[in-house]
Amino acid sequence: MIFTHNRYHRYLSYGITAALLLLLAACKKETVATTTPYPIPNIPNFRKMPVDPENPMTVEGVALGKRLFFDPILSRDSTISCASCHLPSKSFSDTKALSKGIDNIEGKRNAMPLVNLAWFKNAYFWDGRSKTLREQALFPVEAPDEMHLPWPQAELRIQRHPVYKTLFEKAFGTGTPTRTEITKAIEQFENTLLSYNAPFDRYLRGEIQLDSSVLRGLEIFRSEKGDCFHCHTTASPELFIDPLKTFANNGMDAAATVFDFPDPGLGAITGNNNDRGRFKIPTMRNLGFTAPYMHDGRFATLDEVIDMYNLGPKNSPNVEPIMIEKANIRFQNTGSYGLGLTAQEKADLKAFLLSLTDSTFIQP
Ligand code: HEC
Ligand code: HEC
Repeated sequence: MIFTHNRYHRYLSYGITAALLLLLAACKKETVATTTPYPIPNIPNFRKMPVDPENPMTVEGVALGKRLFFDPILSRDSTISCASCHLPSKSFSDTKALSKGIDNIEGKRNAMPLVNLAWFKNAYFWDGRSKTLREQALFPVEAPDEMHLPWPQAELRIQRHPVYKTLFEKAFGTGTPTRTEITKAIEQFENTLLSYNAPFDRYLRGEIQLDSSVLRGLEIFRSEKGDCFHCHTTASPELFIDPLKTFANNGMDAAATVFDFPDPGLGAITGNNNDRGRFKIPTMRNLGFTAPYMHDGRFATLDEVIDMYNLGPKNSPNVEPIMIEKANIRFQNTGSYGLGLTAQEKADLKAFLLSLTDSTFIQP
């Protein structure tokens, strides 16, 4: 076309160019979504919520993500949704130690609560294998022990669904969404799962007093006595985890070598042997709803969790050095390797942990 010399060809090529431009303009017009920015609350005592500029939150995107989260359309036999394992009444976690997917295949880990997720720094899943929530959402749809639906099929289902077609046009300017827009919508919804009305939040805001058992538990939690604060801290009330620390081995399992942990955790992702047996430090929010506990759901109650810490860390090559150091100091000073908490102190610590549970979060 570029080398056409006669007039007829030139006009023809002008015509084609014009047609192409028109088509382009038409396509462009289709990609203009009509959205309303989603109002992000300013929460007292919280750092500003980090929202990825690549996925700004909109009212339409959030509503769409919510619909997808509760819709079994994303599972192969259309029987389970994200909410089947992330129960809203359980702070979006599961009551089973290990959840089951569509073919009744049991997964390997405990379903995590979904709360204040935006503040987790670039680490989702117990082993941190996803950097963002939208990357995370790619996994459960295809996982054989979860929804087991290949993404190309998931995309077709959504594209052929007239209601979703319209909703995606409104929210993302496309009636043929791919996994990119689908997971972006889910991420936007997950970002709205905000919890900040636990008794401890209200105490921090000066709205209520806490009873003396809770206050004693707080002191145990944030002092050398309980030593919880090396990983979980009240200084960052968004999740009550140390913002500078993401993963740890909290001494739950004895292991002669790093290859003896039943689940390699972070090590399988980084390939670094020293990361084997290390897991994401979980939030302390809503523990009253999220039993059972730990990456494999091994503890049914908070009492069992506290007893585990009270015994002191079990030995393994990469148990958090500070835990071993403190345990050795305790052993020298008191002859007890463990924390040596009395029954009352354990009850106080539990009362404090439960003061981080926000019952307004699970109201319909
Ligand atoms: C069959 C049960 C099941 C289903 C269905 C399921 N999940 Fe999960 N979810 C889990 C389990 C188990 C984990 C932890 C897995 C791991 O760490 O390896 C998890 C982890 C997560 C996390 C990580 C949270 C954190 O703090 O790191 C997010 C977010 C999440 N799921 C969202 C979703 C979304 C969105 C869907 C639907 C598209 C979904 N899940 C479907 C069981 C499920
Ligand atoms: C060295 C860091 C570290 C210290 C210190 C620590 N934890 Fe943890 N905590 C973790 C990690 C990591 C996990 C997840 C472990 C796993 O599942 O493999 C965890 C899990 C928990 C859980 C279970 C949460 C859930 O959703 O399953 C509770 C409750 C808890 N810790 C409370 C405490 C208390 C109370 C203390 C102090 C007595 C404490 N932790 C000290 C790192 C730590």
